[in-house]
Amino acid sequence: MKRVTIPIPGRPYEALIGSGLLKAAGEHIAAIAPAGARFFVVTNPVVRGKWGSALERSLKDAKLKAEWLEIPDGERMKTMGTIENLAGRMLKAGADRGVAVIGFGGGVVGDLAGFLASVFMRGVPVIQVPTTFLAQVDASIGGKTGVNLSAGKNLLGTFHQPLAVLIDPAVLATLPDREFRAGLFESLKCGVISRAEIFEYMEKERDRILQREAAALEWLIAETVEVKARVVGEDEREAGLRRILNFGHTIGHALEAETKYKQYLHGEAVAWGMVAATMLSVAMQKTPPPTAQRIIAAVLAYSPLPKVNVRAKSVVKRLAMDKKSRNGVPHFILPVEIGKVEISNEVPPDMVIHALDEVRYLSKWNSGE
Ligand SMILES: NC(=O)c1ccc[n+]([C@@H]2O[C@H](COP(=O)([O-])OP(=O)(O)OC[C@H]3O[C@@H](n4cnc5c(N)ncnc54)[C@H](O)[C@@H]3O)[C@@H](O)[C@H]2O)c1
Ligand SMILES: [Zn+2]
Repeated sequence: MKRVTIPIPGRPYEALIGSGLLKAAGEHIAAIAPAGARFFVVTNPVVRGKWGSALERSLKDAKLKAEWLEIPDGERMKTMGTIENLAGRMLKAGADRGVAVIGFGGGVVGDLAGFLASVFMRGVPVIQVPTTFLAQVDASIGGKTGVNLSAGKNLLGTFHQPLAVLIDPAVLATLPDREFRAGLFESLKCGVISRAEIFEYMEKERDRILQREAAALEWLIAETVEVKARVVGEDEREAGLRRILNFGHTIGHALEAETKYKQYLHGEAVAWGMVAATMLSVAMQKTPPPTAQRIIAAVLAYSPLPKVNVRAKSVVKRLAMDKKSRNGVPHFILPVEIGKVEISNEVPPDMVIHALDEVRYLSKWNSGE
């Protein structure tokens, strides 16, 4: 088992990563949760059906009192309505300030469980037990929670750091292939922005990773969590450094929104966003072409990816309105070398249009359609 500390000033916590860890989850939770706490496990029927009994047994073995709160599967459940509904169910079950929430599922469940815990009776502890690759390396780390409004995603949210994050790569065995591959791009991102070893590992060990070999996943998850941990530890509230985690996300988010969140999984849109940002970086003369080639080849090695068929002009318009743009000028995270990036808000819109046209062309040859 690997341990990574998330060094949030004043309240550091640990992510434990180990294949089969779910069986020992109860024991780990008992060690960190307030004595006598009553637990509410937020999950969905898919995750509960596949892995619920393992978690349930381990909580029982550790003599922890737990009640289960199921919500239907899907991003559409990430609303204030669900938060109210869950809080109501907790109260009905007699919950008071002495409870703790366990988020057991992908990023949707984790964001809801974290939000719920942050506001229930002005805040109770949460423990994250993420079950998708994306949630294991990204959503469960850093304490961001959120729900969607009809006007946009994650527009309401809080910062609420978990007591601990328990990561069992073995649960990824049941994850659909597309979901699994999409999550891997967040690891590749961390390789490009900060830790070249992750990038090189993903270049070399593609087959072991795609076969979901336990040792390969443990290594990859622990290293990725460590990058995110270090970044959020230095910049909990996203004032500066945390922005480098947005590599591939400026254009990725625009692609997702432009296709109404139907065409791409988040990681797939980020994959194309990383390709586009790399092309921009070459055009801005920040990345040498051979380095850019390597990054693009690594992205494509984890394809197929859905095609890009949006209008470049609409994407540029959308970028100007993005909540992370300052005065209508989007910022781009541009790779300089593998493991190092620069933030630029000086990328001219016609360069963005050109990069998107190139991506659209490239995507014709690499789509799974
Ligand atoms: N808080 C953050 O910092 C942060 C960061 C990134 C993403 N997010 C959020 O995360 C969400 C996306 O998360 P996601 O990609 O995990 O999607 P998800 O939670 O919708 O999970 C994807 C699908 O996989 C299923 N699933 C989960 N675990 C499984 C398993 N072990 N076996 C089989 N199926 C399983 C889920 O039921 C779902 O159908 C978005 O809402 C996004 O906003 C949050
Ligand atoms: Zn992301």
